[in-house]
Amino acid sequence: MSHLARIAALATKATRRQWSADQLDWNVDIVLPDGVRPTIYVDMVSQLHHAERAAITSLEVMRAALPEAEAKAFLTTQIADEVRHADVYRAYLERVGELAPVDPGLDEVLAAARAWRGPAWGLVVALNVMMEHEALQQQQKRIATLPCPLFKEVNQRIAADESRHAGFGILYLEHVLPAVPADEKAEVLAWIRSLWSCWHAANHGRYRAEGEAVLRLDEDELERRGHRVGAMLVALGLAQDDRELGRS
Ligand SMILES: [Fe+2]
Ligand SMILES: [Fe+2]
Repeated sequence: MSHLARIAALATKATRRQWSADQLDWNVDIVLPDGVRPTIYVDMVSQLHHAERAAITSLEVMRAALPEAEAKAFLTTQIADEVRHADVYRAYLERVGELAPVDPGLDEVLAAARAWRGPAWGLVVALNVMMEHEALQQQQKRIATLPCPLFKEVNQRIAADESRHAGFGILYLEHVLPAVPADEKAEVLAWIRSLWSCWHAANHGRYRAEGEAVLRLDEDELERRGHRVGAMLVALGLAQDDRELGRS
């Protein structure tokens, strides 16, 4: 099967697997992690909401820019997924507090993604490879370490969608990259490197206060994640070395 046929099949699967917020039991008790102040917990959930909202805007740009009908069809399902994710985090927030403003570090990453004027497939690398991988890692960490059963269920459902989005990224890039000249690949790689160091800086200083270790992403974990994204860039033929995105 060609890459485009596999993308079309993924879009069909995505449509079949759409779920809705009212399939969750919203009446279960919220459980906050020990030692984490409620305002910090609310802030963490708020950033997840802001990231989902920002993804929608960038995906709309991507859907308009990618020429293949199969990619546009998949992105329509992905946009519906991200709208649902943003709404579900917002609904969860209504149980725990007021939406907090976007973190300045995260905002910088989102602004850098919006500012991209290079080839449209570069956006697929940024969103569907790098950021989807990060979202998945983040959700899996929250599922494993946070005690709230409702938040676990929210993240489990969202993570299943995000892994499909990441799958699209790989398929699409395998389709498009063989015909891309080396200088264009180098331009995208340089941008991804700068986005990663922005992302690294945004995570570096967060959750430093006492009791917040459960939310913190330590330096080693960030570095491991960078290497995993780097390994994907190597597999795609975009980078030579999986340490391309490392410690900054
Ligand atoms: Fe999402
Ligand atoms: Fe996603």
